[in-house]
Order: sequence, then C-alpha cells, then structure tokens
Amino acid sequence: MLTNEQFDRTRRPALRLAGIELVEHHRELPGRRRRRLGLCDAAELDALLGAAEAGTSDATGQMLCLLTTKFTGFFRHPRHFEVASGHALRAARRHGQARLCSAATATGEEPCSLAMALIEGFGRNDPPASVVATDIDAAALAVAKRGEYGAAAGA
Ligand SMILES: C[S@@+](CC[C@H](N)C(=O)[O-])C[C@H]1O[C@@H](n2cnc3c(N)ncnc32)[C@H](O)[C@@H]1O
Repeated sequence: MLTNEQFDRTRRPALRLAGIELVEHHRELPGRRRRRLGLCDAAELDALLGAAEAGTSDATGQMLCLLTTKFTGFFRHPRHFEVASGHALRAARRHGQARLCSAATATGEEPCSLAMALIEGFGRNDPPASVVATDIDAAALAVAKRGEYGAAAGA
C-alpha cells in the first residue's frame, strides 16, 4: 500500500502522462503493479517517482507501465469483432478499402483478432482493409510489434 505522499506523487504523472485520474480506490494498484517492474520495495518506488518527476524518459515509460492496465486477449468481446468486420466490409464497398483502428491496443491481441475477423469477413486472405494499432505504452507496443503469443494469450 502506498503512503499518502507516494500516492499523491503517483497521481500527478498519471494525469499528466496518460490522462488517468487515480481516485482513492486505486490506491493499492500502483503498489501491486510495481512487481511488474521488478521494484521490490518502497525505496525503489520513491526512486522511480523522483526520476519520473525529473522527466527521465526511462522512468516515464516505467510509470506508464505502472499506471495502466494491460489486460487484453484474443477476441475479448467476440461480437465487437463481427461488428468491426461488417463496418469494414461496407466501407470497402463504398471506398474501395477500409481501415480499422485499435486504439489503446496493449500487447496486440486486439489488432490480430481484427485482422483475423477481416480475413473471415471478406472471405479472403488479402482483404482490402488494414488495422492501425496505437498505445501510449511503448513497451506494450514492442510486444505487439513482435506478434509472438503463447497459449496463455488464448489464441
Ligand atoms: C486494458 S488495455 C486494453 C487492450 C485492448 N484494447 C483490449 O480491449 O483488449 C488498456 C490499454 O490502454 C492504454 N492506455 C491508457 N491510457 C492511454 C492513453 N491516454 N492513450 C493511449 N493508450 C492508453 C494502456 O497502455 C493499455 O495498454
């Protein structure tokens, strides 16, 4: 559990870096997630907060990782993928091609699912459609770019 001071120092970069407003019931989250970053104790978290306040880019990246949830999976909300593929089909009929956007994509399972839904929806392996994926967290995007998933990703 974060001290009041640590929590206040975490709230400011959350809002500034990602537009995330941490409220009282989020108090435990950064403490739990710090293990993701291999931060063992409060002193290491203090050091990270200090570096983020100083604007160190590594620390900023680590703060983003600490503050954001990475929960994702293949076809997480199955109906959404059918709907997106249907939109893409109609757009491609009208404009010749379509583009889908996976905003806040995390580690890339969502755009991969969209690509599979497009292949299925268009009934061909080279649909006239593309998927753009973005995220604020460069580390998550690096995983997405690799595009390698194990059985745990639920493919
Ligand atoms: C729960 S994941 C969602 C993954 C995927 N879209 C899905 O639904 O399965 C949330 C993602 O939002 C990203 N995120 C949070 N704030 C963001 C912001 N201000 N701009 C862009 N991405 C942001 C996080 O880095 C994280 O990867």
